[in-house]
Amino acid sequence: MSERETAGASGSGRHFTDRSTDHSPDLATGGATRDPSAHREEPEADYGHELVPGLTHTPRRTDIDPKAAKRAERQVLGLFLLSVAGTLVFFIGFYAVQLDSAENVGLSTKLLGGGLGLALFCIGAAAIHWARKLMSGEEVVQERHRLRSSDEERAAVIKDFQRGVEDSGVPRRKAILGGLVAATAPLLLTPIVLLRDLGPLPGRKLRETVWTEGVRILSDVTERPVRVADIPIGGYVAAIPETLLDLPHEGSAQLAERGKSAVMLMRLRPEEIVSQQGDNWGYEGVLCYSRICTHVGCPLGLYEQTTHHMLCPCHQSTFDIADSGRVVFGPAARDLPQLAITVDNDGYLVAKQGFTEPVGPSFWERG
Ligand code: FES
Repeated sequence: MSERETAGASGSGRHFTDRSTDHSPDLATGGATRDPSAHREEPEADYGHELVPGLTHTPRRTDIDPKAAKRAERQVLGLFLLSVAGTLVFFIGFYAVQLDSAENVGLSTKLLGGGLGLALFCIGAAAIHWARKLMSGEEVVQERHRLRSSDEERAAVIKDFQRGVEDSGVPRRKAILGGLVAATAPLLLTPIVLLRDLGPLPGRKLRETVWTEGVRILSDVTERPVRVADIPIGGYVAAIPETLLDLPHEGSAQLAERGKSAVMLMRLRPEEIVSQQGDNWGYEGVLCYSRICTHVGCPLGLYEQTTHHMLCPCHQSTFDIADSGRVVFGPAARDLPQLAITVDNDGYLVAKQGFTEPVGPSFWERG
């Protein structure tokens, strides 16, 4: 063991003590403590304790004034105690508040958030204060040492491994090895079994909606059919298929279908339309697109009529309605599916056909 004491350059009277001599068992010698004088290829570095040459350390008040140091210590302690109080508030919010009214739910939430926030903030603030005022403020440099083990150590590790294989008897007792493989292989399959808990595969359910040829487009607000004249140039109408109303209101059938079939109508000047996903899929400047964002499925509705951009409020994916619903910004990976439309004999907007691609988040395509 070597011990070296270095007087601090700050005048604070602090001492650094280096106990970095290697005491680890030497693999090459079968675990015996290494002789410090043996096999010394490079000089021992004083890791992390060398003062940066040329830098003068200006002592802080807490370095030279014991009263200031004591005060800083009390402040750090106070912050830690305040953190304890914050944690208690958190527990009170969780256990002591009965969630029997909206006010109490709000109160509990505030106590949980406020208590936890206070506790974490105080621990962080105490740690920073401690480091800035009381820990050593000197700039030190840490030399890098060689990471590669010596040839002797590497050889010893290989030898140890080979001895371990030999001691286990695996080369002689092949049946046990076979048993081990037989025991672990089925174990690796257990995650697949657990995957079944994610529910039945959706099959084609996510690929199909109730939109088919001739289904009328209803306003989602009034649930009345829409004519072209009902939509002003630059206008936007949230819409649903008429057949949605035929589904039972009880249970989740109608809600689930609404989540897939919701569409939106936008009316542009025909000359403003750059492209569509199919020939004549719009009608007199009215275009119909799925209202479900192709990123992770938020409902769209922030329409900027001057640029014809549709913005998703969740992660700001932006689709160009005038240009085939193309993604012009954000994380969505797929253009917005367009629904081909026309009008029926009464002049109401109807679907020409169903969607030709899955609507909703992109992972639905793999359903
Ligand atoms: Fe629309 Fe993420 S869900 S951008």
